[in-house]
Amino acid sequence: MEYTTLGDTGMEVSRLCLGCMSFGDPDWREWVLDEAESQPIIDRAIDLGINFFDTANMYSTGESERIIGNALEGRREESIVATKVYFQMDEDDPNSGGLSRKTIEQELDASLDRLGMDTVDLYQIHRYDYDTPMEGTLRALDDAVRRGKTRYIGASSMWTHQFADALHTSERLGLDRFATMQNHYNLVYREEEREMLPFCQKEGIGTMPWSPMARGYLTRPHDEVDSTARGASEEYLYEHPYLDGGGPAVNERVEELADEYDASMAQIALAWVLDKEWVDAPIVGTTSVEHLEEAVEALDIDLAESDVEYLEEPYEPVPVSGHE
Ligand SMILES: NC(=O)c1ccc[n+]([C@@H]2O[C@H](COP(=O)([O-])OP(=O)(O)OC[C@H]3O[C@@H](n4cnc5c(N)ncnc54)[C@H](OP(=O)(O)O)[C@@H]3O)[C@@H](O)[C@H]2O)c1
Repeated sequence: MEYTTLGDTGMEVSRLCLGCMSFGDPDWREWVLDEAESQPIIDRAIDLGINFFDTANMYSTGESERIIGNALEGRREESIVATKVYFQMDEDDPNSGGLSRKTIEQELDASLDRLGMDTVDLYQIHRYDYDTPMEGTLRALDDAVRRGKTRYIGASSMWTHQFADALHTSERLGLDRFATMQNHYNLVYREEEREMLPFCQKEGIGTMPWSPMARGYLTRPHDEVDSTARGASEEYLYEHPYLDGGGPAVNERVEELADEYDASMAQIALAWVLDKEWVDAPIVGTTSVEHLEEAVEALDIDLAESDVEYLEEPYEPVPVSGHE
């Protein structure tokens, strides 16, 4: 396994972060694996040297956190555990979502309880909360750091001007600032190259892109996208603009290069993200040990510069996707 420093945190993370959205309760999403099916994947990830795990309170309404907490029992110190807050956990309780101090304090305690941990390494805001001033959110997050409930704080998909304003607010008030950005980035969604990724690079922010294989769209020919349980049922796959802006042409080129490199399409898609200097650790989603092993093997693929250009050429700008 290769390791890299996550932004300016000083923490060494594996170059692949294991996405834990696929672990939890199949009643939440059809393609999600239960604990018995998830455990061997997490064990194998640890065997392969992955030390970085990303979950969220809302994944399977907490079950993902519980599973990863159980799986890491006895190996907590060597793991980097990241979770998130924002989406409403209980439809009858409006304060179980958002980024107020009340929500943050209650939800962080609930996450720690499910994880069976006293502290997480990274606590991230899953989205921007238009109803809560960022200053209040940052003060609550800073207190969480002071209380030892999280070591670092991070953010996820938002506009760059919102993120820049949050960093500025932290500096102005002498509060802990966001150390990481978890954003939407892959070969068929590259809008983050305009502002967010260069900004993060300049500011020493650790980057951990989500859906690096476009939720599976880049792992098989585009006319077979609905051939798996997830492909057939996941609405987000179709809500993202992967089929616009040259997406199918990019997909065909991924397939073509997969043949040339004797690799799978998933590996070429991942190798492209890993090739980008502004990416620290893409968060990979997997539902099998074999796919996980393939992802790790992608670290050994060194794409020729001309092939990177060839893969990128058909892309055209698409509507912003992943935040509002
Ligand atoms: N912050 C946010 O808002 C946000 C949003 C989304 C995700 N995330 C994080 O990012 C993680 C990854 O997201 P994701 O699952 O959407 O991303 P992804 O890694 O782009 O897609 C994963 C899907 O690709 C397919 N796949 C993966 N490896 C494959 C292989 N070797 N061969 C064939 N197919 C393969 C599988 O789909 P099939 O089952 O269809 O084959 C798998 O479910 C999540 O677990 C979560 O931690 C964060």
